[in-house]
Amino acid sequence: MDWGMRNRLAQLIQRDGRALFLPIDHGYFQGPTHRLEKPGRTIAPLLPYADAIMLTRGILRSCVDPTNTKPIILRVSGGTSVVGEDLSHEGITTSVKEAIRLNASAVSLSIFVGSRYEHETLMNLARLVDECEDYGIPVMAVTAVGRGLEKREARYLALCCRIAAELGARVVKTYYCREGFEKVVEGCPVPVVIAGGPKVDSEREVFEFVYDALQKGAIGVNLGRNIWQHDHPVAMIRALRAIIHENATPSEAQQLFSEIKAEAART
Ligand code: R5P
Repeated sequence: MDWGMRNRLAQLIQRDGRALFLPIDHGYFQGPTHRLEKPGRTIAPLLPYADAIMLTRGILRSCVDPTNTKPIILRVSGGTSVVGEDLSHEGITTSVKEAIRLNASAVSLSIFVGSRYEHETLMNLARLVDECEDYGIPVMAVTAVGRGLEKREARYLALCCRIAAELGARVVKTYYCREGFEKVVEGCPVPVVIAGGPKVDSEREVFEFVYDALQKGAIGVNLGRNIWQHDHPVAMIRALRAIIHENATPSEAQQLFSEIKAEAART
């Protein structure tokens, strides 16, 4: 692996081998998602605790100060919307030249295995990897589950992750599943991070599934809504950071969450 690729990966994956990526790319197909109406405002208090942020070029340019030094994972696929016909019909929206101009540490793109546009999205990934490898830019493949593709089970997720790695992704983002998640990670020769999915009712549930995913081999998270849609987003990201980088248990994370929440209420 050449120096540029290694250096960019080191910006994303910390010395302990773990990573906490904060995605705010949801608007690229969902529009102004709840609590992400003003992305710059949403992420300001969270940035100190994230290892990298994942977003589109439009939000990067318009909502993030260029003096920001957090590594950028630039989403470069899209072209669909929640009111359109098929979420899987994505293309590449941003050139590698633009990713370099924006000083991205990585780019990310969705693949939709099992969808009508499976082939197109897999070829998008292969072509993006070909181009990015020339410039030492890692590609993070997002194994998407669109409408009609709610297959959050180990066999399906393992299939998606392995295909993404075979096509050259340097990191794979997938979903957690309670049964057999270790098989998803075992079958994938590159690091795996998990998304959080739609916001769940209790923060404890998030601590539990993130902890379990790490025990089963994930290196961290690319987790958005369960942080910034929470009423106490700073307490959430700090508690998750403790699980990821300090090996905190879900109980310890819950305790830390409560302390930070109580402290915030006092000030
Ligand atoms: C999909 O909208 C994006 O790729 C997100 O970055 C990904 O799903 C992670 O975000 P969340 O934890 O909110 O699911």
